Amino acid sequence: MVNSLQDTTTLHNGVEMPRLGLGVWKVQDGNEVVHAVKSAIKAGYKSIDTAAVYKNEEGVGQAIRESGAPRDSLFITTKVWNSDQGYETTLAAFDESLSKLQLDYTDLYLIHWPVGGKYKETWRAIEKLYKDGRVRAIGVSNFHQHHLEDLLADAEIAPMVNQIELHPLLSQEPLRAYCASKNIKVEAWSPLGNGRLLTNELVQEIAGKYNKSVAQVILRWDLQHDIITIPKSINESRIIENADIFDFELSAEDMQKIDSLNRNERFGSDPDNFNF
Ligand code: A2P
Repeated sequence: MVNSLQDTTTLHNGVEMPRLGLGVWKVQDGNEVVHAVKSAIKAGYKSIDTAAVYKNEEGVGQAIRESGAPRDSLFITTKVWNSDQGYETTLAAFDESLSKLQLDYTDLYLIHWPVGGKYKETWRAIEKLYKDGRVRAIGVSNFHQHHLEDLLADAEIAPMVNQIELHPLLSQEPLRAYCASKNIKVEAWSPLGNGRLLTNELVQEIAGKYNKSVAQVILRWDLQHDIITIPKSINESRIIENADIFDFELSAEDMQKIDSLNRNERFGSDPDNFNF
């Protein structure tokens, strides 16, 4: 049973990663992101997920400093953008992310998308950053099983995390099983289906039973499936609400009902067919 916002999952290199974090995709740099990240840290969040392409790393860094939280109590993720993939370019992109964040290491660094013909070189650079102690854990994002198989064929170090679009309409069961077999933790982006799942009738009915919100039920479903989850919100009360999921447990029957919503429906791009 996952009991608290401070609960972590252990990555295959022994690093402890918080099971719930704040996602800041589409959050504007400056006041908006500073306010969101500070609200989250105040509410007890330890994990913040940004990316170079979100263009808000500076604000994330500012919020971390202003929060006063000790650096080693936090878990900061960022990602290398597609146009920076390749060996030297990834090393340079990492330096730029650190300088924007004003940090001297990140906790997790991810390949943002599996850019064909590039991601293996990118991975070699990320392995170097890891071996040099500049990042505590490394991983990928938006990798299908075949991308992971291809990467693992040449990798020296296996990714510790695969961050993918995952929510009840896209439950990703086969990929989750494959990742579990390789000791790769699955992390859900857009766990609320970019907010679109909040009106789902079945989840509304289940939420009523537990006296919880639809968002809380979906995020609890993630935790009970051992999925790391990073809901995005810029609103302090919703940030607090999304972390208030440690005082109830969904029954096996309700977990199955939510599982049955899967329709393999994506709101974002398919990693086999993206044009950015
Ligand atoms: P806002 O930032 O205004 O709170 P996802 O993480 O699946 O991409 O979903 C993010 C979307 O869901 C955002 O539009 C966010 O809006 C909204 N959202 C996040 N948490 C909640 C919540 N607890 N209740 C309602 N909407 C939420």
